[in-house]
Formats: sequence, C-alpha cells, structure tokens
Amino acid sequence: MKTPKFCGRGGTGLKRLCTRLADAVMDKALIIGASGGIGRAVSEALSARGVAVTGLSRSDDGLDVRDEASVGSALGRLAGPYDLILVATGALEIDGARPEKALRQVTPAAMMDQFALNCIGPSLVLKHAVGLLPRDGRCVFAALSARVGSIGDNGFGGWYSYRTAKAALNQMIHTGSIELGRSHREAICVALHPGTVQTPFTEKYLGRHPSVPPEEAAQNLLSVIGDLTVEDSGQFFDWQGARVPW
Ligand SMILES: NC(=O)c1ccc[n+]([C@@H]2O[C@H](COP(=O)([O-])OP(=O)(O)OC[C@H]3O[C@@H](n4cnc5c(N)ncnc54)[C@H](OP(=O)(O)O)[C@@H]3O)[C@@H](O)[C@H]2O)c1
Repeated sequence: MKTPKFCGRGGTGLKRLCTRLADAVMDKALIIGASGGIGRAVSEALSARGVAVTGLSRSDDGLDVRDEASVGSALGRLAGPYDLILVATGALEIDGARPEKALRQVTPAAMMDQFALNCIGPSLVLKHAVGLLPRDGRCVFAALSARVGSIGDNGFGGWYSYRTAKAALNQMIHTGSIELGRSHREAICVALHPGTVQTPFTEKYLGRHPSVPPEEAAQNLLSVIGDLTVEDSGQFFDWQGARVPW
C-alpha cells in the first residue's frame, strides 16, 4: 500500500482522496480475529475493494492469541508480505468477569485474563508478524485498542483491568514501532480506537451510548489506516483519525 507524498493528515477532501489512492494499491491484508464483529466487517470491506484478505480466528482456525505456540504456528504458515496486518481480537468480559465498577471488585485472576487477551495477545502477534511485513514499501500493523485505555482521557474511572490491559497494549505498540522502524523504514505501527461499535463485545454495555454498526466502523478504520503516514507510527488514533492522548 503506497501513499502519495502529499498525503499528510490534512483537510477532509484531501484526506478522502488520499484514502482512495492508498486503498487502490493495497494488495494483501491479514486480519487476526476475523470472526469478530469488527474483524469480519473489515475483512469484508477489504475484499469488496479487491484486496486479498487472509483472515484468522480462534473459532475458525483454533488461533488462541494468548498462546505463543498457537500464534507462532498460525503466522508461520503464512506467506507475506502483507500491506496491512490488523489485530481485531479482544474482550471486555472474560469467563463471566464483568468490567469492575469499584476497586473491591478487582481480582488477580480477572486482571491476568485481561492482560493475557488484550495486551499479551496482540503483542505476540506483533512479535511473529514482523517477518510478514515488507522491508521496503509502506505497510501498516494496527491493533484495536480502546479509548478507555487512555490515561489522559480517563475522567470516569472503573473498568480497571480492561483499561489497564489496553494501556499496556498501547505501550507495546509504541515501543514496537520504534524497533520496527529501524528494519522496516516505511512501516507504520499504530493503536486504533474503533469507536463504539454494535458487536457481541458491547451487547450488554451499550445502553443509550451512541454507536455504529460494524460495517460503518470498518469504513472509518480503513479511512484512517489509508491516511496514515510513517510519521504517525507509534501513535494512538481514533476512528476519525484524531490522536488519542496516552
Ligand atoms: N465494539 C466496540 O465498541 C469496541 C470499542 C473499543 C474497542 N474495541 C476493541 O475492538 C476489538 C474487537 O472488538 P469487537 O467489537 O469486534 O469484538 P467481538 O465481536 O466480540 O470479537 C472479538 C474477537 O476476538 C476474538 N478472540 C477472543 N478471545 C480470543 C483468543 N483468546 N484468541 C484469539 N481470538 C480471540 C474472537 O474470536 P472468536 O469469536 O473466534 O472466539 C473475535 O474474533 C477488541 O480489541 C476491543 O477491545 C471494541
């Protein structure tokens, strides 16, 4: 996927043009968590644009991102390079442990489960995906994080384990981007907040919160991904392409 030089993070008209141009030259994408609400919608949107999509998931392929052997063998079977690798795995509630509303609800087990899935999982994918990214030419590694993982943006509290795991994921993405940039000069490694999306993930938690269907979230994310430049690597963006504070 190559972005013309004039594609900065500019006005919306130019942004749309850049996105279209960038999309036009994207050939291959790998979606981890392709069975999920957002992962599936992104896979379908890319396929509709003529991109060759490889989707991997726990339910269809037995890929458990918490297990390094599983990640290593699933990614080891693939032939890159991929212009885009998107990690769309994650959960808010694991084994019945709901996001905590108060400190007294925090448990080591639930916190470790959150770290295993929402931080260690995408981190292992990044570790094993480096060899699937092109050394020359623009490519994007993106992991779905969440705005609630932002410390600077946290005005409500609660959701301790999920927030903390996503904040740790953000640090992994930022740190990984520095190393990746040394060997892959045009690689872009980012954390993305997809917005509030109507998927199984949010089923119990949406309430009256404004939300979008996964198809709309997928288009939003692909616009942001298409508009990223190498200067954006290591950062955290929301579905509108705005920087989210750490
Ligand atoms: N939906 C939102 O409003 C929202 C907001 C902010 C951030 N996010 C983030 O966006 C990401 C995707 O969310 P979503 O709404 O698409 O959720 P979803 O529909 O519940 O999909 C979750 C995905 O994660 C996969 N997964 C769960 N545990 C796994 C494991 N151990 N190994 C491998 N895959 C595993 C699921 O695989 P199987 O189904 O195959 O088991 C599924 O593909 C998450 O990281 C979430 O934190 C979502």
